[in-house]
Amino acid sequence: MAKKKLMIHELYRMKAEGRKATWLTAYDFPTAQFAEAAGLDMLLVGDSLGMCVYGYPGTVPVTMDQCIVHSEAVRRGAPNTFVIGDMPFMSYQLSDQDAVANAGRFLKEAGVDAVKLEGGRRVASRIRAIVDAGMVVCGHLGLTPQSSGQLGGHKAQGRTAESAEAVIEDALAVHEAGAHLLLLEAVPPEVAAFVAAKLPIPVYGIGAGAACDGQLLIVSDLIGQFQAFTPKFVKKYADVASVITAAMKAYVQDVHSGAFPADEHCYHMLEGEEAGFERLADRYK
Ligand code: KIV
Repeated sequence: MAKKKLMIHELYRMKAEGRKATWLTAYDFPTAQFAEAAGLDMLLVGDSLGMCVYGYPGTVPVTMDQCIVHSEAVRRGAPNTFVIGDMPFMSYQLSDQDAVANAGRFLKEAGVDAVKLEGGRRVASRIRAIVDAGMVVCGHLGLTPQSSGQLGGHKAQGRTAESAEAVIEDALAVHEAGAHLLLLEAVPPEVAAFVAAKLPIPVYGIGAGAACDGQLLIVSDLIGQFQAFTPKFVKKYADVASVITAAMKAYVQDVHSGAFPADEHCYHMLEGEEAGFERLADRYK
């Protein structure tokens, strides 16, 4: 039986009942299929695809068109999973109008269920505008990679009382602006627990401790595919990089040794065609 699609009200019910939501990034069709089969509640087509798929040094170069193409693929692979499209840098920074138009592209062109954007008080009017246009919005606070230049790099946030206050004020503003969900990235578990208890909306965490209403991980970290660096909050559940490399090395060896392709990998002439082929070959001698 096909999995029943999660809707936003179910995410709220899960928070009320203390059931944790499971959330993973996905960037392509097969990964989305695996995630849906594995029973993930939510998928994020994160702008982390810049690093995980395209090999950029960060998320800043990622474009709307790239996000749409990957969101479409994920939607096709996971038709019954709650899919969130991540608004890339410069798709919402300039104006409320831009924010609504680009959020709308995620829904119209890729069929996602919600959009996510980074920032608190300073993007409150963007969140309000997208919500007023009828879309589901997820806020993103703490370590916000698109503004990592201002944060002094990919650094945990909220580790001093003053910085924790900024996270809390931003969380209140995001909720006040009408966001339906909130993601906290790389903030102390104490701060995340406080925000999750304070806000009536589901508050999810990536590197924000166990008290959040659910957890997000980057799929390329979880399966051991992303090689450049591994944040402290990652738990690797597999090492596909070595599985894939070993398979490729074995293929190279087999081709060099002649072990591949074997007879079973070949399409032989149809029965009765051999004599005709021999005559044909003779003509070319
Ligand atoms: O793009 C992404 O995957 C994200 C996570 C790092 C939270 O925004």
